[in-house]
Amino acid sequence: MKPRIIVTRRWPASVEKVLSERFDTTLNSSDVPLTQDRMRDAFAEYDAILPTVSDSLPAAVFPDGETRTRLLGNFGVGFSHIDTEAARRAGITVTNTPGVLTDCTADIAMTLLLGVARRAGEGERELRAGNWTGWRPTHMIGSRVSGKTIGIIGMGRIGKATARRAHFGFGMEVVFYNRSKVDDDETRVIGARQLPTIEDVLAEADFVSLHCPGGAENRHLMDARRLAGMKRGAFIINTARGDVVDQQALIDALCAGTIAGAGLDVFDGEPAVPEALRRMENVMLLPHLGSATEETRVAMGMKVVENVIAFFENRDVPDRVA
Ligand code: DGY
Repeated sequence: MKPRIIVTRRWPASVEKVLSERFDTTLNSSDVPLTQDRMRDAFAEYDAILPTVSDSLPAAVFPDGETRTRLLGNFGVGFSHIDTEAARRAGITVTNTPGVLTDCTADIAMTLLLGVARRAGEGERELRAGNWTGWRPTHMIGSRVSGKTIGIIGMGRIGKATARRAHFGFGMEVVFYNRSKVDDDETRVIGARQLPTIEDVLAEADFVSLHCPGGAENRHLMDARRLAGMKRGAFIINTARGDVVDQQALIDALCAGTIAGAGLDVFDGEPAVPEALRRMENVMLLPHLGSATEETRVAMGMKVVENVIAFFENRDVPDRVA
């Protein structure tokens, strides 16, 4: 008998086709997220659940006793929406999709960095609203990007890809913070300097770009104190997870002019985005588009497929996180 699996959102059609051929698959053609009750029931009905960042899987959703589900094959590299401890207790394996969204997420970090520094969103809004009165020397003056310093918090795959773009594309100097020592050719060739603390990075960086995982360990890593420790005129870019930044403290810092602006692809409590942020001109806001390219979304789906196939063939899963 084919394993029964449930896919919680619409996936690229080519990946849904493969899943439907290989497994007894329930797709979600309406693309409406599962309720917590439906998710709870799924543990009794399916051998594998394939969730995304838009599904919340806290301990309370996991079954207390027997469960049919043995695998959570997450569509995405970040998995802080899944209580991996609860999964372990329930004997459920969790996998993710590392590696395939690195470049596209770094591209979005640079999109935000350039967009907010050069006031691209603001300029486009002015033009579309019919308010552009023509070229003038003092119109919409932004901050130069080339030659400035980028501070990367979390020098993993995506942090390194962003650093590469910033350095080789825009001649930026790179400083970074990472919990463990990073000493590889990739970092060396950029001339990136690892600094001992986040505060050291904030003190040097004109642009701070966040690339660390979300979840309890990094919740509000950028709090009011650290935002205040950024250079005057600096910008913050977040393509990691919304909860890494204390959103209210960020709004306060932007209102007070403590920092110059923010480029955000992720939000605490998304898809809700505070009205205060939506009203500000010095922020660029994107609806979690980091991995949103045809190529990457198909590759993410196919990575999940690889993991599910390996799991049900009793082989080691390539991307186990719990
Ligand atoms: C990721 O893969 O972590 C993206 O943010 C989507 O979840």
